[in-house]
This record gives sequence, C-alpha cells and structure tokens, in this order.
Amino acid sequence: MAYLSTDRVEHHFHDVVIIGAGGAGMRCALQLADAGHRVAVISKVLPTRSHTVAAQGGINAALGNVVSDHWLWHMYDTVKGSDYLGDQDAIEYMCRAAPLVVRELEHFGLPFTRLEDGRIYQRAFGGQMREFGEGGLAKRSCAAADRTGHAILHTLYQQNLRAKTQFYEEFYALNLITDDDGCHGVMAWDIAKGEYHLFQSKALVLATGGCGRIFQTTTNAHINTGDGGALALAAGYQVEDMEFFQFHPTGIADVGPLITEGVRGEGGYLLNSEGERFMERYAPTAKDLASRDVVSRAIALEVRAGRGCGPNKDHVLLKLDHLGEELILSKLPNIHQLALRFAAVDCTKEPIPVQPTAHYTMGGVPANRFGEVVISRDGEEEQVVPGLYAIGEGACVSVHGANRLGCNSLLEIVVFGRACGNRVMKWLKTHRYHASLKPDCWQPGEARVERWLGRSGGDVGAVAALRAEMQKTMQTHFSVYRSTEVMQEGMDTLDRLYAQLREVTIPDHNRIFNSALIEAMELENLMAMARATAASALARTESRGAHAHEDYPERDDVQWLKHSLASIDDAGNVTLDYKPVRMQPMTVDSFPPKKRVY
Ligand code: FUM
Repeated sequence: MAYLSTDRVEHHFHDVVIIGAGGAGMRCALQLADAGHRVAVISKVLPTRSHTVAAQGGINAALGNVVSDHWLWHMYDTVKGSDYLGDQDAIEYMCRAAPLVVRELEHFGLPFTRLEDGRIYQRAFGGQMREFGEGGLAKRSCAAADRTGHAILHTLYQQNLRAKTQFYEEFYALNLITDDDGCHGVMAWDIAKGEYHLFQSKALVLATGGCGRIFQTTTNAHINTGDGGALALAAGYQVEDMEFFQFHPTGIADVGPLITEGVRGEGGYLLNSEGERFMERYAPTAKDLASRDVVSRAIALEVRAGRGCGPNKDHVLLKLDHLGEELILSKLPNIHQLALRFAAVDCTKEPIPVQPTAHYTMGGVPANRFGEVVISRDGEEEQVVPGLYAIGEGACVSVHGANRLGCNSLLEIVVFGRACGNRVMKWLKTHRYHASLKPDCWQPGEARVERWLGRSGGDVGAVAALRAEMQKTMQTHFSVYRSTEVMQEGMDTLDRLYAQLREVTIPDHNRIFNSALIEAMELENLMAMARATAASALARTESRGAHAHEDYPERDDVQWLKHSLASIDDAGNVTLDYKPVRMQPMTVDSFPPKKRVY
C-alpha cells in the first residue's frame, strides 16, 4: 500500500473500477457486485444518461420465437457481415451466449415487447438470414418497442443499485495509472466539486463507449468522445481497426438522430427522388435489409447519380406510412416522436428524409473474448495487459470486424460485460492486494487539468471552433466513400488542428462544474481517436466493409485480411502495426472468406 505525496487528491480503494456506466459497464459491474466484490463505476454523466439509452431496434439472439433460428446461422451472418475481418472465436462465443443473456435480461425485469403467447417479440434486421441465407430473412432482434437500449440501461441500473455497486457520477477520467506490471487504477476529476480523486483498483475496466463525435453528423450523443481509447493511447497502448466506422443508412437528414433499422424490419422501405425502391438493384435478395455498409453505399450512389431528394438532392426517403398507425405507434413510438421533432414529419402519413450518418465505432481498444486488453507490436504474439480490461463499443473484441450487424451491439455489451466480470473474478482470486503505487503517480492527471486552468488568455469559442473543423474534416474526408487523395488532405488538416489544440486556451478557469474544461479534455480525446482513424484508413489500400476505397474498390484478402493497430508515440505521431484475424472458431469449422452478396 502506498501513500500519495499530496493531500490534494482523495485516494479510494476498490477491487474493481469500471469507467463508463453504459450497458457494458453496468453488466460487468453487476456480475462482480453480485459476487460480493467492491465495485466502483465512474461515469462522466448520470448513469442513465449513458449512450446505451439511445439504442433502439433490439438485441440479437437466435431464440426462434417467430421463425426458426440457430446460433450458427447468427454466427455465419456476423462473420459474413464483418466482411471476414471479425475474430471467429469471439463471434462464436457471442452468438452462442446470446439466448442465455437475453433470458437473463428478461429475468432481471426488462420489459420486452411480447408476442401474443407471451414470448419475447422478435423482428427482422439487416444482413440476417436463416439456414445460411437459404431460408429467407431471420427474425432475431429481441425488442422493447423501439427503446430497447433504454430498457436495458434502466434494468441494469436498477439491478446494480440492488447489488450495491458504488457509482461515482459526474467524474471525469484523466489518465490511467500504469507501470510495467499493468494497470492499477485511474486519476479522475470530480466535475461538480473540482477535486482530484485517485481510484486504486486490482482490475480496471474501460467501458466508455464509442467516438462518433469525431464526425459532424452522427447518431451519437455529445458524450461519445472516445475517452477509453484515448486513455489507452495516452498510456502507450493501442486502438484496433479504427478505419472501420459504421455509417447507419437512416439518420434523419441534416441533423443525424437515428431512425431504427427496425422500421425496415417491420416493412418500411427506401425511395429515391424518382419514387423507385432502389435497393432492389443493389441487393436483389435482402433489398432494404441488406447489411448497413451496402445500404449506406447505395444511398450515396443514388445521391451522386442525382436521384437524391429535397432542394439539395442530398437524401432519400424512408416510407413507412403503409405499415399503419397502430403498428407505428405500438412498435415504433419513439421513431414517430423523433420524426416529428427533428424532421417535422408525421411518419404515419409521410416518409422520413434520411441519409447515412456516422453511427458506430467498430474499432477500439483491442481486447480478447474475456475482455482482457491485449497489445501486439512488430508482428509479435499479442500480450495481455495485466489488470486492464475493455468492453463495449470502446473495445474491439473483434466481433464486428469491418461492418457490424444491427442489434449485435446491445448483444456485445451484455455478453462481454458478463464474460469480463467472470474473468476479473478469476484474476481477483490470485491478486488479492492492491499494488504499490509511486507516491507521485497522481501528477500526470493533475497536470492535464492544470494545463488548461493555468493558461491565461481565454479564447471564447476556440475549442468549439477547433472541434467543429475536426468534425467537418472527418465527415468530408473519411465518409462512406474514401480515396487516397481526399484522405491525405484530411490527414494534413488533422495534423494542423492537432498542433493548434496545444495552443488554444479556455475562457473559464473556475474549478466548480467547469464545462469548458471538460469539453477541452474531450476534444483532446476526440483528436487522438480521429487521428488514429485517419491514419488507419489512409494505410488500408483495399475496400472491406465500411471502408470503401475508391482507388482500391476490391477486397484484398492476400494483403489485408488483418487487423490494424494504431498507437501514438511520445512526439504525438500515429504509428501502425498489424495482427492476424482469428479465423478459427472455438468448436465449429471456420467460415472462409467468400464474396458477400445480399
Ligand atoms: O437501427 C437500429 O435500431 C440500431 C441498432 C444498432 O445499431 O444495433
């Protein structure tokens, strides 16, 4: 046990500290708290405001409640959807575990929508078929109307309150406490009081969500700033497969909020300005329920061909009024509200204007299927980082590879939240005491805050302007379609903005609830994730899943069936490594790469 060389920092001891109170963090916390461990969850927002709350359509599990289904078909769809970049051992694990974790959620009290016979309602989602595609669409997505994430988050929060998980709300993670023996905790800033806290742990779990706010138009909440990935990068670890960022085909045009794929699962479809159901040309079998990368590219091509809608011809229309008011108001009530508020459209009568919108970070902190963070450099075998775990959207397990299937994200968070909790328990059996810390280990965290608070000047709006330029750059240069020239220009702009970030100042130097300070530190995190994304994308000279490279339109399994790993060195340069895809599942035969058609 070490004592800190300051009394400016409050020192806490927990068995496990989890950063992030979304579905992954909460499921992990519950597993551990129910087993009697002292678990702290640190969240920069009130837990029920975590972004899981925004997930709409459902959670996949081959329950076969509506049409017959099998976890192996789910696994096949996920491997195919990933454009063969997903790790097949982790995918098998997730798809096999899905029915169990969904029933567990049901028993925790999750208010699923019901079939007439009382079983869980399931709807169709993109890229999901039966009998390896031979038996038509699967209905695999278990839904609580179109508010499934909301239902999961609140259910898990209530269970954690029962299990006595300790929540530290509105605490911002500053830096990881690491040494050659791994990770021992985190320095955090109490946003409300403006005080430093050191959380010492035997195991630390990153569950911080994605980084969708690197883009200008996104379904992501303002809080999705890639904090976990940035903490890992700052500690000298890596982020994996950042070039694969999912654009959801149906964000509300211009503004971004998500219109669930469940609309198309219920029978809605897309139209271009000529009133044509254009998806029939791009995906003759699955049509509007092809996988997301395919539908997003189709919309982009329709717009490019001049068949977009609206005065700027920049979006398409999602028609669902034919489904009838009763179905819309019972199964898609949230969509009805969102369309009214953000597009001034009553979707029981008119179509919703939609366009592809940045939605999901398929890359993240590399982790194995137990949630352990792994690193790999210079082609060497991956190594586990002792005491450090990553789960949820901020992690890359990798079950989504180059393109995620809808409703596999809510599944991922509960499957790997639970699995990680179990793995941490095993670790705690042999790591019963806290490590000794260096007495000055708190200093880098303090320095991060004091650098912003201590610099005079105070440009009102400088951080916001820099963030806006970064987001615009990502949106323009790293969108659905990319080319070397356009990405290189984007990289150059990001480098300039990164240099500027070191110079800007904030106008508010108070310690109490200083939102300018938090936004500045979030921008540091966003910038790290944006630069890792850009460098990984520029380097990948093929097209795979969400990475559609105009100069290299084909998938190249000879050169590129591998994961990228980005790090940021002491001088701030992004460097890249690669590691192989895990093609061997746990118990079944591998699904080798083949052409993806829907
Ligand atoms: O369309 C949706 O409801 C989104 C689901 C998901 O991203 O998994």
